Amino acid sequence: MKQDTPANQPTALKVEDLRKRFGNLEVLKGVSLTARQGDVISLIGSSGSGKSTLLRCINLLEIPNAGRVWLNDELIEMTVNRKGETVPKSGRQVDRIRTKLGMVFQQFNLWTHMTIIENVIEAPVHVLGKSRKTAKEQALGLLEKVGIADKAKSYPAHLSGGQQQRAAIARALAMEPAVMLLDEPTSALDPELVGDVLEVIRQLAEEGRTMLIATHEMDFCRDVSTQVIFLEEGRVEEQGPPDKVFNAPDSIRCRQFLSRFL
Ligand SMILES: Nc1ncnc2c1ncn2[C@@H]1O[C@H](COP(=O)(O)OP(=O)(O)OP(=O)(O)O)[C@@H](O)[C@H]1O
Ligand SMILES: [Mg+2]
Repeated sequence: MKQDTPANQPTALKVEDLRKRFGNLEVLKGVSLTARQGDVISLIGSSGSGKSTLLRCINLLEIPNAGRVWLNDELIEMTVNRKGETVPKSGRQVDRIRTKLGMVFQQFNLWTHMTIIENVIEAPVHVLGKSRKTAKEQALGLLEKVGIADKAKSYPAHLSGGQQQRAAIARALAMEPAVMLLDEPTSALDPELVGDVLEVIRQLAEEGRTMLIATHEMDFCRDVSTQVIFLEEGRVEEQGPPDKVFNAPDSIRCRQFLSRFL
């Protein structure tokens, strides 16, 4: 089991009172969280509770209506445009922040026309300005780490879902992100492929990577998380170390949600 993150670790990611509305539907109703370096925070909750929206607002794939996000103590600056909408103040800052947030999606989102190694080196070469040679060496190391070095020259279509997801994790790691955001990384996989991907994520947790993971894998969540956040209708309904949330939640709704997984 992952050790508790020491309280004196610096803050990697801080979210304060985040709100997001789609039309009349308020999906996030003021969500706050703090991830210290090395924290693994699991986001759990029913379908539609706002887990994906929260992750997407953090890396500004969705623009929150209100609230603040800091990455390594740098505030993502927002402003209000002429239409009265909240928008990022600086596109440049958003681009820079995004390079520090490694995103892993349910559907892998690999470039289908590129080989696996090309997928992994794409951003390090074009965004970080690394040489192809350096990027390739690092990419091979990462593919080794996630157990698919032999697939470096294959195209995504020739890999299993689990291998594609591990390639997507390697691609995210290649940017040396400060925080990894994973949105149900195993829910599109056949059951027999889930274990390998969870094993890779577990290894990252043990190495002290800061991660925010939306997941329905409760055993895994209980095992690797330093903190669990139960979202219910866009609010943090229960929050705490896994032992507390799983064994003695204050919230009845949280208890009911978890009972479905027994
Ligand atoms: N782009 C969008 N436009 C309109 N509504 C949206 C949009 N994205 C999400 N929603 C709505 O916001 C709510 C929260 O969705 P979200 O995808 O964040 O839930 P979730 O907790 O990730 O669910 P799941 O476990 O099914 O992945 C849902 O009611 C959804 O329909
Ligand atoms: Mg989701």
